[in-house]
Amino acid sequence: MRSIETSEELFEQAKALLLGGGQGHKRPGKVNGRYPVYAVRGKGASFWDADGNEYIDYLCAFGPMLVGYGNPVVDAAVKAQVDEGVIFNIHHPKELELARLLARLIPSCDMLSYFTGGSGATTGAVKIARAVTGRDRVLRCGYHGWHDWADPDGAGVPKVVGALTTAVRYDDLESLREALDSHPGEYAVFMLEAFQGQGPSEEYLAGVKELCASHGTLLCFDEVKSGFRFALGGYQEVAGVTPDLSTFGKALGNGYDVAMVVGKKEIMEQAANVWVAATFHGQLLGVAAALATIRLMEETDGVSIIWRQGKKLMDGLDEVMKAAGVDAHSTGQAPMPHLSFGEGLGELADAFYDETANRRIYFDPWHNWFISPAHTDEIIDYTLEASASAIRAALDRTARAQ
Ligand SMILES: Cc1ncc(COP(=O)(O)O)c(C=O)c1O
Repeated sequence: MRSIETSEELFEQAKALLLGGGQGHKRPGKVNGRYPVYAVRGKGASFWDADGNEYIDYLCAFGPMLVGYGNPVVDAAVKAQVDEGVIFNIHHPKELELARLLARLIPSCDMLSYFTGGSGATTGAVKIARAVTGRDRVLRCGYHGWHDWADPDGAGVPKVVGALTTAVRYDDLESLREALDSHPGEYAVFMLEAFQGQGPSEEYLAGVKELCASHGTLLCFDEVKSGFRFALGGYQEVAGVTPDLSTFGKALGNGYDVAMVVGKKEIMEQAANVWVAATFHGQLLGVAAALATIRLMEETDGVSIIWRQGKKLMDGLDEVMKAAGVDAHSTGQAPMPHLSFGEGLGELADAFYDETANRRIYFDPWHNWFISPAHTDEIIDYTLEASASAIRAALDRTARAQ
């Protein structure tokens, strides 16, 4: 069994100094209490924790890791940028170079605006939509970050602000229609995570587009999570539905912070006077990283590799669970899969995730996983062997506990 003593000690000390024990939402206490894990280094599809344990990572830092940790191509581009200068008080040609590349790839991208972090981009899209439509209300469906409009019932959010956001159900046109009809002419934008769970049913996204257009509400696909994984043009390319605006972040810079709002020319041009500028929107490491990442994905057809490897993992896990006689199956789609255990199998699932972690696999029990081209055949084969042995061990553990 792996030791995580150093991690545990670090976490005890960090709790007194850091809100949540560390940066952001890297939740501790997962997987049967056998985390937290402090990561100290990564390479390819793996990272190593503070106790020297290696994990094959299927969470990919919650999505940014698109072409693997320490990718030599991306990191060389970033190092070159470090040598040339990280930020200036005037524009840099690479901002234009990346914009050209993305405008060629993303259907809804005629123009774009840079941000830091996915939350910055989604809030930027909301501000642009409010300015362009002259409306205050916002519809949302999915997770869009931590800012007030996106967390309307959260602690610390003024009620007057939260009241302007309405959530609608995914893949449910009636839910959207009802919301739009309840405040006719008042919704600026529908912020929609176009891919969730298993994905939308056939007609949903086209129906959403039509409904929004008929109410004068802009449609923004929040592709912060799905972007560059399903297709280089985003999930909108796969779905064949082009929204008015879209947001991207996470995978774009393979771990370096870069995010953006992209949109149709007629909308973006109207937003020219909206104040969405910040000091670090001019930071170049993310831009250099994004150029290298997306070019590498294009040159190597990284998206096809993601689909192939994700399918191999999903099919393999289904076989493993079937052979073990366990009611669990793969869910999601190949670029963002997960594993779903049947009713009443919570304890078995906990034991399985603990056992896979003991076998160097970092599956997140709650969050969808991400597949990268760094998940090679060898790595997936090992993952499946380890999963077969982990589910047998988990079955033994739960049988003994009864
Ligand atoms: C779909 C979506 N939108 C927005 C965000 C917020 O991005 P960030 O956490 O980079 O602020 C996330 C983060 O998980 C996300 O998944």
